[in-house]
Amino acid sequence: MPALVLLGAQWGDEGKGKATDLLGGSVDYVVRYQGGNNAGHTVVVGDQKYALHLLPSGILSPGCTPVIGNGVVVDPSVLLSELSGLNERGVDTSKLLISGNAHIITPYNVTVDKVTERFLGKRKIGTTGRGIGPTYADKINRVGIRVQDLYDESILTQKVEAALDAKNQMLTKLYNRRAIAVEQVVGELLGYADKLAPYVADTVLVLNEALEQDKVVLFEGGQGTLLDIDHGTYPFVTSSNPTAGGACTGAGVGPTKISRVIGILKAYTTRVGAGPFPTELFDEDGEALRRIGGERGVTTGRDRRCGWFDAVIARYATRVNGLTDFFLTKLDVLTGWEQIPVCVAYEIDGRRVEELPYSQTDFHHAKPVYEMLPGWSEDISKAKSFSDLPKNAQAYVKALEEMSGAPISAIGVGPGRDETIEINSFL
Ligand code: IMP
Repeated sequence: MPALVLLGAQWGDEGKGKATDLLGGSVDYVVRYQGGNNAGHTVVVGDQKYALHLLPSGILSPGCTPVIGNGVVVDPSVLLSELSGLNERGVDTSKLLISGNAHIITPYNVTVDKVTERFLGKRKIGTTGRGIGPTYADKINRVGIRVQDLYDESILTQKVEAALDAKNQMLTKLYNRRAIAVEQVVGELLGYADKLAPYVADTVLVLNEALEQDKVVLFEGGQGTLLDIDHGTYPFVTSSNPTAGGACTGAGVGPTKISRVIGILKAYTTRVGAGPFPTELFDEDGEALRRIGGERGVTTGRDRRCGWFDAVIARYATRVNGLTDFFLTKLDVLTGWEQIPVCVAYEIDGRRVEELPYSQTDFHHAKPVYEMLPGWSEDISKAKSFSDLPKNAQAYVKALEEMSGAPISAIGVGPGRDETIEINSFL
């Protein structure tokens, strides 16, 4: 039985941490398959709030094995400080497994991320500055450093030399920065080896054996569908595949094993960083969504750009991920609006367009076509079942479901673990 994928259906920050954590109790393994410490999950357990950047949310559920798959990029210093922060709060992290094939974010990858963004000026992507893109670039260029390299000093030194050869040329000649010394990087990386050793494993084997034994494995996507390097709003994307196929390559599990793909969908839309966003609001409604929804990045502390729900994007997410269900989050944030606009199509150069245009130029010109849905003013945070919701909130959910192309199986009505309406069980 079941391998499930949980992923962001918009531009990330849809509330995946809550959804993953909600399932954590009944799940044997929670696996991150891409991204790095650019992801930010806030998980609220009782009166405790945890901000996770790199670790899978399952780390908070006793009995669950958290796994960092081969598709993830790992900054060892961030990982170790996240682990010790949790240990200090009494969370047992000893079950964590890290793929020996995961790539390491080295200090020079972080430097390159920052200098290239600065160099791009107005054309910058607005990255999180954590070295994610340069680390994936090294991986594809076959000059990346993997977790397993920490255990062979000679190989590690050769690889760091190979990676720094070209980078030092670029840093000194193009960006006017100081060269980075190989020994310094190797020394720092070797310093992490012993601390990480207890966690390093053949995660592909572990996960496939677990699936053969009918264990429940949950793959947790970072970022979101529209930030996917292939299917997102390129070039304003992250450098990995948060979409469902990424779970297969990023964890070494075949597509035939995946039984359910759940898209996390915020009841409105947010985005961090640069790039097109048709329903973005620049008025007091946008400000109110930001304030009520607490829309500030967990990882970067940047304010998120906010806008109304975009059904075109949700339909697209259903298609590229083969979504079987949605988890609709933050419905409570919309309480109090008399009418709620929902984008049902775009107008592009005078034409009505129902589906996401593949052309970047068209998408940049897309203007939202709104349908107004009646709002509600009742507090919905205590609702336990769909029928507890006010009629207009029910109608809003049903309308989103119809427009988005997959059933909404759960609804978030507040930040707490228990503030969720479950309609269909995910397991
Ligand atoms: P990078 O992933 O740091 O390279 O940043 C590339 C783009 O993805 C930027 O627009 C970031 O703001 C965005 N991004 C990266 N991680 C997240 C996330 O977890 N949530 C939302 N946006 C993200």
